[in-house]
Amino acid sequence: MTNIILIGYMGSGKSEVAKALGMLKGIIPLDLDTYIEKEEKKSISQIFDQEGAVYFRKKEAFYLEEVLDLESPKIIALGGGTPCFGTNMDRLKNDIHTTTIYLKTAIDTLTDRLFLERHKRPLLAAIQTKDKLHEFIRKHLFERVFYYAQSDYTLVTDAKNPMEIAQEILKLSQPLAS
Ligand code: S3P
Repeated sequence: MTNIILIGYMGSGKSEVAKALGMLKGIIPLDLDTYIEKEEKKSISQIFDQEGAVYFRKKEAFYLEEVLDLESPKIIALGGGTPCFGTNMDRLKNDIHTTTIYLKTAIDTLTDRLFLERHKRPLLAAIQTKDKLHEFIRKHLFERVFYYAQSDYTLVTDAKNPMEIAQEILKLSQPLAS
């Protein structure tokens, strides 16, 4: 089995899909944000507040490399920004043991999901209204789709639960399921 790397905007369900996929495959999934929090002994919000975004992105690239080097096979949920900085996406694309899957979610769905939990996410915490959040996501996603769309597969996730998405991932191609 190749490594399966889940890519997508905040709120696209990467972590939940990784858990469902892990259950189906009998593998404990990895969540890059959780891994960073454990290694740095701070929440993602604390890292952004205390060390800044540049420090976070450096650490994110460092720990991405570290988790990719762990013993295979792996299911990894990345952070929403991971593929969009430095050489991270090229690194993933050049790894023949890795399959990247973009979980594509509509802006309306992302806005609904993220509005109530925006305080937990440093990039969204200061946004006051749902309209402003919608506008922010629309612009941000426009910039990021360039990277997300370089994934090996794109799966539309709207109106599907994590287990349904995980089952679709297994059906995508035989090498992923074997
Ligand atoms: C970020 C997404 C977050 C986390 C950090 C930055 C981003 O991960 O890595 O807050 O730049 O989109 P999730 O997508 O898991 O929320």
